[in-house]
Amino acid sequence: MARLTYPIPPPSEITPKEVHAQRRRFLKQAGGLLLTTAAPLLSAAPAWQADMIRAPQGPFSTDEPLTDPAMAAGYNNFFEFGTGKEDPKRHAHRLRTHPWSVAIGGEVGRPGRYTLEDILAPHGLEERIYRLRCVEGWSMVIPWVGFPLGDLLKRFEPTSRAKYVLFETLHDPDQMPGQRSRILDWPYQEGLRIDEAMHPLTLLAVGMYGDVMPNQNGAPLRLVVPWKYGFKSIKSIVRIHLQEEQPVSSWTARQPAEYGFYANVNPEVRHPRWRQATERRIGESGRRRTELFNGYGELVADLYAGMDLHRHF
Ligand code: MTE
Repeated sequence: MARLTYPIPPPSEITPKEVHAQRRRFLKQAGGLLLTTAAPLLSAAPAWQADMIRAPQGPFSTDEPLTDPAMAAGYNNFFEFGTGKEDPKRHAHRLRTHPWSVAIGGEVGRPGRYTLEDILAPHGLEERIYRLRCVEGWSMVIPWVGFPLGDLLKRFEPTSRAKYVLFETLHDPDQMPGQRSRILDWPYQEGLRIDEAMHPLTLLAVGMYGDVMPNQNGAPLRLVVPWKYGFKSIKSIVRIHLQEEQPVSSWTARQPAEYGFYANVNPEVRHPRWRQATERRIGESGRRRTELFNGYGELVADLYAGMDLHRHF
């Protein structure tokens, strides 16, 4: 298998929001000129990383103000590195994100284990600015860099029995010390219905704010499903399995009354411990109203036509 080498910047080197905005503006103005100037800097990095910096803005982006990148990479849920919000930033440097491979199997015509480079090679990267709403009641607005998951799945030729997609995170307690605790049954698993996985909003992300994904945000490859609570957006994926049966996600296995399979953001479905009707946008004071499907209803409501969203929460 091809060996991937690319530098992962420590969180301190993640580009601040203003710099990122400036760089995008600059890129737009300078066009090809800057790319020539930047070439020596990028020549050591694999092609997809250079593409990340050039990633054009994809569809569905919100124009709301971005969350401060230091908060986005400093206030995280990644239980493999501890349960505190600052634990992932403190401990995720232990995760070795290269070489990295993903096993793609089950109901597909071309199963196998593929390197990250194989996975990314044919896909053009784009930037999508999405709201992400955590079940605990806070939300962020993050410019993700990635490509639609559906484009990847199509390449591996799902069979007619592929009704659901199961995703799995790496299981390695040496790198992920939080896996020594029994808080969840490891590895972390999540699932989507095939039409949700194929939906053009569903993103496989490799970066944010125009840079490589920080480890604490799920490097090197994570899911972003912006109309669902944040726990569906599984990080550091090593397995994608297409199957006929509905998968049981890690949180549903732990607390079925609190975490349903669908986990669509819904202010009307109460959670026993967290407030769902309103949310705190990180960086703002006060709370704002939470919207059904996190405000993406126009794009995704059809997926659930005729379903009782209180029962299928
Ligand atoms: N993926 C894994 N493997 N482990 C986790 O603990 N936490 C989830 C999700 N993905 C989690 C995960 C939860 S609860 C949320 S809210 C989001 O990641 C948080 O993403 P962020 O830290 O990038 O904001």
